[in-house]
Amino acid sequence: MLILGIETSCDETAAAIVSDGRAILSSRVLSQTLEHAPYGGIVPEIAARSHLDHLDRLIGEALAEANVGLGDLDGIAATGGPGLIGGVIVGITTAKALALVHRKPLIAVNHLEGHALTARLSDDLPFPYLLLLATGGHCQLLIVEGVGRYKRLGTTIDDAVGEAFDKAAKMLGLGYPGGPEIERAAAESSLSDRRRFLLPRPLLGRPGCDFSFSGLKTALRQTIEALPPNELDDGMPTHPIVAAIAGAFQDAVADVMADRASHALDMFLHRHPDAATGNLVIAGGVAANGALRARLATLADKRGVRLVAPPLALCTDNAAMIAWAGVERLRLGLTDPLDFAPRPRWPLDPTAPRAIGAGVKA
Ligand code: KG4
Ligand code: ZN
Repeated sequence: MLILGIETSCDETAAAIVSDGRAILSSRVLSQTLEHAPYGGIVPEIAARSHLDHLDRLIGEALAEANVGLGDLDGIAATGGPGLIGGVIVGITTAKALALVHRKPLIAVNHLEGHALTARLSDDLPFPYLLLLATGGHCQLLIVEGVGRYKRLGTTIDDAVGEAFDKAAKMLGLGYPGGPEIERAAAESSLSDRRRFLLPRPLLGRPGCDFSFSGLKTALRQTIEALPPNELDDGMPTHPIVAAIAGAFQDAVADVMADRASHALDMFLHRHPDAATGNLVIAGGVAANGALRARLATLADKRGVRLVAPPLALCTDNAAMIAWAGVERLRLGLTDPLDFAPRPRWPLDPTAPRAIGAGVKA
C-alpha cells in the first residue's frame, strides 16, 4: 500500500510517500520560519499563501523522489485539522482534487493523530502506549489505545509548552522559533549559574496531569525586569545571564513535564495493568529538546518503562506522519467523503473534560 501524505496546518508545507511496510519513500518539508521570523510568530495569512505557492511543487518532488506516479497510489491523506484554517484548506482541497481526478480514496487526517501514531511508523509500537504530545499549539498527555481511540489524561490550562518556549525566547531577546534558541543558550550555562534564578514549577506535585505555563512566564518576565539596566547589553552573542536564565527556564519546564508524565504513567498503568512493559512516547517539536528527553529518560528508567522518542525529523511537523496515519486508517477502511469540511478544532478525545481554568485551548 502506498499513500501520499500532505501537511499544511501550520508553518511547514510538506508532502511524503509512505508504504504500509513502514518505509518512508520520500518526505519533503519546507519550513516557513524565515517568512514569519520578522513577526516573532506565525502569521496565518502568510502561511496559507505560502502553502499555496509551494505545495504542488513539493508533491511533485515527493512523487519523483519515491519514483511513484499518482496512479500507483492507494490513497491520498491530508491534514484535515486542527490548525490554521487557511493552510488546512489549501492542503485538503489539493488532496480532494487529486483524489477525484485519479479516483483514489481520500483520508482526512487529524494532525494530532499524525503525531500520535508516529511511534508506530518509527518503532512499530503496539497499542496501548502513553503519549506526551508537546508542540507549539498543544501540550497533552494521552493514552493511545488504537487508531481513532484516545483517552486524554491532561492538557494545558493556558499556553502550549512550545508557545511558552517561544515567548520566553522573545523576552530574552533570542530568535524565533524559541525552543531551539533557548536550548542553545541554556547549553552555555552551568548548573550553579542556573540555580541563581529560581523559577516556579506550576502544578508540580498537584493531582492529575494538566499543565500550566503562564505563572512561569510571568516569573520569567519579573526576573528579567529585575536585572540592572543594560545588564544584557554588552554585545556578546549570548550573555552569560541570558544563558543562565534560559537554562533556569528549561529546567523548570523539564521538571514540570516529568512530574506530569509521572502522574500520567500512574493513570496509564492503572487503566492498562497488563502494559507493564509500557511505552512512554514523546512527540511534537518540543520533543527535540535534549534536556527534556534526558529528564523523561530518567523518569522512564525509574518507573521501568521504555521511553520512545521518534527521530527529530518525525517529531516536528512533517507529511510522513500524515501519510502513515493514512495507512493506518485505510487499512481499517476509514476513508472520508470529498465534501469533508476542514476543522480548525478537532480534539483527539472529544469526551475529555476541559482542564480546570482552561481558556480556549483544547
Ligand atoms: O510540532 P511542531 O514542529 O509544530 C507545531 O506546533 O505543531 O512544534 C513547534 C514548537 C515550537 O514552539 C518550537 O519552539 C518548539 O516546538 N521546539 C522546541 C525545540 N525545537 C522546537 N522546544 C524546545 N526545545 C527544542 N529543541
Ligand atoms: Zn504538529
